[in-house]
This record gives sequence, C-alpha cells and structure tokens, in this order.
Amino acid sequence: MTSKHWVLGCLIVLLLFLLVFFIQNTQFGFQEKHCQRKLLDGKDKSRKAALQILTPWLAPIIWDGTYDLWILNNQFKGKRIGLFVFAVKRYIGFLLPFLESAEHYFMVGYNVTYYVFTDNISAVQKVRLSNGRILKVLKVEADKRWQDISMKRMQILVNLTHDRLPKEVDYLVCADVDMVFNDHVGAEILGDLVATIHPGYFLAEPRQFTYERNPASAAYIPYGEGDFYYMAAFYGGTVEEINKLSTFCHNGIVADKKKNIEAVWQEESHLNKYLVYNKPTKVLSPEYIWDTNLPNGDLVKKKRFLAVHKNHKEIRN
Ligand SMILES: *[C@@H]1O[C@H](CO)[C@@H](O)[C@H](O)[C@H]1NC(C)=O
Ligand SMILES: *[C@@H]1O[C@H](CO)[C@@H](O)[C@H](O)[C@H]1NC(C)=O
Ligand SMILES: *[C@@H]1O[C@H](CO)[C@@H](O)[C@H](O)[C@H]1NC(C)=O
Repeated sequence: MTSKHWVLGCLIVLLLFLLVFFIQNTQFGFQEKHCQRKLLDGKDKSRKAALQILTPWLAPIIWDGTYDLWILNNQFKGKRIGLFVFAVKRYIGFLLPFLESAEHYFMVGYNVTYYVFTDNISAVQKVRLSNGRILKVLKVEADKRWQDISMKRMQILVNLTHDRLPKEVDYLVCADVDMVFNDHVGAEILGDLVATIHPGYFLAEPRQFTYERNPASAAYIPYGEGDFYYMAAFYGGTVEEINKLSTFCHNGIVADKKKNIEAVWQEESHLNKYLVYNKPTKVLSPEYIWDTNLPNGDLVKKKRFLAVHKNHKEIRN
C-alpha cells in the first residue's frame, strides 16, 4: 500500500462519518427532538397560562388565591352593584335559577340591583331576595333572530348607563342568563373595566382567537393584535366605562348593519375589538365563566359561574 491509498482510505472513512452524522442530525434525529420540544412547550405553556396573574399591561388576572377578600371588601365597602341580564323568549326559563344562585353567591353583603330585561314581564317568577337587594324587571321588544336579541343588549346598555344607572349604582356587571353562580363572586371582580377570558381559549395562541377578521367590519382585529379572547357572558365596570364600551359596540353593530354584514360572534366580536384598544383594568380567569363540557378543567380550581347545558336550537328559536 502506498501513502496515496492511505490518504484515500482515511478520506472515505471521514466522509462516511460525516454522512452518518448529517443524517442523524437532520431528518430523523431532528424530527425526534422537535417532537419532544413541542410536548415540553405545550406543558409549560399550560402551566404558565394557568399561573399567569398579571397581564402585560400589569392588570391583575383574578384566580382563586391571588387576592385578600377582607382588604377588597374594605376598599369597596358601600358600593352599589347592578347586575344586568337579558331574559327574552324561552331564555326566561333560565332566570329563576340564575337569580336564586346570584342570591347565594353574587356580591353577598352588598346592595345589589338586578336589571332584568324581558319581553314577557308576567312570566317572571317571584324570587326571595335578601336585604338590600332589589329586582327591577324592564320590558324589551323581542327580535326574531337570537343574534339580534343578543346585539340589542348593547343598545339597551347605552341607554341604561346614560339615563338611570348613574343615579342608582356604582358598578355594573353584565351577564348571560343561561348560567348559574356556583361559588363565591364578590368584590374581587370590581374595577373600572373588567372582562373575563373565554374558557375555551385560555390556553390558545392569539392566532387561534375567533376575532372578527373581515376588514370591512367595525369589529375587525388584524392578526398580531389582541391579548386574550374575552367572552361576552360576563363583564363589568363603572357605569361610565360600561357606557363607553356599549356605545362603541352599539355603533359598530349599527355601522356593520348598514353594510349588511354581521361580525362572526356578534356583540362579542365588538366587545373584543373595544378591549384590544381599551385594555381592561382587571381580567377575570375562566373561574368566572366555565362550562363542564370543556377540557383543562383541572387547571381551573373554582368554577364560580357555570353554563347551563341546553339544546341551543330549541331555546334560541
Ligand atoms: C345599602 O343601602 C342602604 C340605603 O342606601 C344603606 O343604608 C346601607 O348601608 C347599604 N348597605 C351596604 C351593605 O352597602
Ligand atoms: C307570558 O308568560 C305567561 C306566563 O308564563 C304565559 O302564560 C304567556 O303566554 C306569555 N306570553 C307571551 C306573549 O309569550
Ligand atoms: C332611553 O329609553 C327611554 C325609554 O324608552 C327613552 O325615553 C330615552 O329617551 C332613552 N334615552 C336615550 C339616551 O336614548
């Protein structure tokens, strides 16, 4: 063997080594590592989101164990709370359990006024109310489509927060009626502008949020913007802030109607638009809107406000 052959042999061995190294680190090896990283990321993210107690603009996200109720009750002592709810058509069937559960869990110890809007006042059943709590039943015309009924809430809110509420309450909470209070909901939810993270999206990436993506709609939110997907089933704030919010949403709904379009989730889409550019001062975790059909319930210790299961088709139409 000459030294030439030696050199050639060494080069071939070296090339073989490099080839094996290359294959391991690109195709197969890379895939395996990549999968592992994905799994880890998924777990970490869940944990992170579950523990996240501050928004990037430093508003608190309210979870059980993050607040001292005694301090908060001193802070909000004497404040008058309104609870605004729509019970139209067959949704009126949800009203009694809603109000009875609110008597147990909602703002106990505070002066509370329920503002119930319904198309059939005579169908509202009597509820036994605690001291300092008042029920006001108000008439509203029922629209044919549930989407219109749902959007009409904003129009009613504009009027209510402008005309009579400033004299009657300090904070207003707006809720869906097909829900029941299931655990304590108190002073920890009070703030200037408060919204609840949608329980189906609390672990989702912003790209997955079901914001309105049609630029022609007043509710349009471009990709890359937005922090949380909020659910319109529970939000609140001072009367003044809810007046601003509902005015924005109502105007957006009217502008869309003129163009003959409707946002993908009706008033919830407009609410999300408003909250992207007017950040809430307090954010409620999914403890404040939960549905037992949803996954990841183990991350949500308290289920304070629960969806009542129903047949959507039957109730809505
Ligand atoms: C409720 O309102 C009444 C009448 O204004 C007031 O006397 C009372 O102190 C209030 N109660 C609470 C708990 O704020
Ligand atoms: C209103 O409710 C009452 C009591 O449930 C019922 O008898 C009546 O038919 C309802 N009216 C309408 C217009 O739905
Ligand atoms: C609110 O509604 C009442 C009763 O329907 C009406 O008299 C009043 O003019 C309305 N206010 C506004 C600001 O639209």
